[in-house]
Amino acid sequence: MKKIALSLKCEREMDCPRDVIIWNYYDHEHLTGTHYKYYNKARVLAEKNDWALVYRSKKMPFLPFFSSGIGFQYMVNENVMRTYHKDSVGFLLQMEAHFKELPNDRCLVTVYYKIETHPIFKIFEPLFKRLFRSWFDATWDEDAPMRLRRWKTYKLGFKDFYGIDYINKKLTKPEKTEYEQYKFDPPIKSLPKIKSPEGEVRPFSKSAEIGYND
Ligand SMILES: [Fe+2]
Repeated sequence: MKKIALSLKCEREMDCPRDVIIWNYYDHEHLTGTHYKYYNKARVLAEKNDWALVYRSKKMPFLPFFSSGIGFQYMVNENVMRTYHKDSVGFLLQMEAHFKELPNDRCLVTVYYKIETHPIFKIFEPLFKRLFRSWFDATWDEDAPMRLRRWKTYKLGFKDFYGIDYINKKLTKPEKTEYEQYKFDPPIKSLPKIKSPEGEVRPFSKSAEIGYND
């Protein structure tokens, strides 16, 4: 049987470097927090370097049900991350994120979604495109404050599970903080729960969102 491809390209720019955005894609703990409207459970089954096998339970925009699935993600090269995601409905989704570094510590992200399937599903292509464009935009908007905040605090010397030195020591803010180029160094540090059989479960399904206090 000749298969057809349902595909979609989404593209947006962000005011932080490539490696901050890639870090965000590998931060599986934020799924049930930052994206609590969509994810109700996440569990890292295995990870090594930039390879990660992750169980996720999620609800896509417009759809009234949660579906769970297993996704494998890895870096094809330093500018391309690929994920294969098989969900309980039975579709195999390939997602590729291409990162292009721009001047002034900015980045262009182009994401390609693709499902190869039976030709009968061609009639659902408009729905596929609408669903995944909504998904891309909704999760992008939720991720943006977290990425920008990470970049901002990194420049102030933030370290994972430590914080910012001058704040921890209750010193005055230095005139100028030196920082090295941000480097994505997988696997990223996490608490043990996301790797436990229980995984990370969303703490609430409704919340008042107050954002970051800058
Ligand atoms: Fe995210």
